[in-house]
Amino acid sequence: MKILLIGSGGREHALAWKIAKNERVEKIFVAPGNGGTARESKCENVNITEIDELLEFALEQCIDLTVVGPEDPLTKGIVDKFKMKGLKIFGPSEKAAMLEGSKSFSKDFMKKYGVKTSEYEVFYDVDKALAYLETCSYPTVVKADGLAAGKGVAICENKREAIDAVKSFMVDDIFNGAGQKIVIEEFLEGVEASILSITDGETIIPFISAKDHKQIFDGGKGPNTGGMGVLAPNPYVTKEILKDFEEKIMNRTLVGIREEGFDYKGIIFFGLMITKKGSYLLEYNVRMGDPETQSVLNLMESDLLELIESALIENLKNTEVKWKNGACVNVVLASKGYPASYPKGYEIIIEDEIKDKVFLAGAKLENDVLKTNGGRVLSVVGVGETVEKAREDAYRAIEKVEFKDKYYRSDIGVI
Ligand code: AMP
Ligand code: GLY
Repeated sequence: MKILLIGSGGREHALAWKIAKNERVEKIFVAPGNGGTARESKCENVNITEIDELLEFALEQCIDLTVVGPEDPLTKGIVDKFKMKGLKIFGPSEKAAMLEGSKSFSKDFMKKYGVKTSEYEVFYDVDKALAYLETCSYPTVVKADGLAAGKGVAICENKREAIDAVKSFMVDDIFNGAGQKIVIEEFLEGVEASILSITDGETIIPFISAKDHKQIFDGGKGPNTGGMGVLAPNPYVTKEILKDFEEKIMNRTLVGIREEGFDYKGIIFFGLMITKKGSYLLEYNVRMGDPETQSVLNLMESDLLELIESALIENLKNTEVKWKNGACVNVVLASKGYPASYPKGYEIIIEDEIKDKVFLAGAKLENDVLKTNGGRVLSVVGVGETVEKAREDAYRAIEKVEFKDKYYRSDIGVI
């Protein structure tokens, strides 16, 4: 089989690594890929990102299956366009991808189908939004409706902060249109969990749970990042929490997907807040998480390609996903300075013995030399029978990766 995998992050390196394990896979083109996929077995990077060019490439190369990593092409309708040309592709349609692409669309969907989520209001008009801030309780959460590269959420401690957020989103237009419409929602207190799942539109199978560590510094301090490391399974997702999630969030979502007639054969990722009053859905993502994928796929015993194929023929109800026992910790190694500015272009040295434990993200291969090329440079993965053993495994391996000014949190997986 020839596969086209779209994306360039650590998530895509992990997807390529996992899909390449299937014997039927002959070649994986990664568009545009990164320094990790450039070196991964069976993989070749192709430097294209525009949907029309990807389509042309897939037709020319007789690609058997396309797997989409990030949300952007999904919300731009890549799945519909590929299908129209008779190409097999894994992911939700443009309409279904709005569950991630528009916060108001997804909150309205949750409300309509009784999916447990926080109270909210949608605003198109800045004066109405500002008037609402006079009456709401604090902290409150202001969200840009559209995609804002993970930066469109402001947790506002007081009215002053909320006014600033609303004005910057709606008047200053800092997200180039994505914040012209906003959602203001109730603040929830608790611990977060990521539950990635696969769906064929008729069945949803949840993957093992994961715990992201979003802030840059130890102890959850400092500004938010794309994610500084992940522990899977998430120790807060107990059997009871999982049951509550399946009943009040997952199954109701499935009813919604069916009733709306969404064409959805892809990944659905539930971002949860576990509170004293049970779990609430913060958001849907219509793709795998990064860096959740690097941990979750390391614990997946099943063949990912076969799972994807089963979803594409709507056969998930007869499919089981198998997991390894134990835990997986992945620690992100970042360029010092991230999430603000940081230098790029430093050589990365990875000792051979831990090659299989490293998933590259902001890294490129230049004349056979790996160099830093982004804020989150790579993830180092540790597995073990217990969380403590997985942590030790990951932090031991980190010693065998070197680049100038590497920074990482030392408390990933500490419960
Ligand atoms: P989202 O893009 O909706 O996942 O929001 C990004 C992050 O903002 C989440 O991972 C949470 O840490 C935080 N967040 C979003 N919504 C809420 C909320 N209603 N209450 C508390 N924190 C929130
Ligand atoms: N790690 C969170 C996300 O991928 O959205």
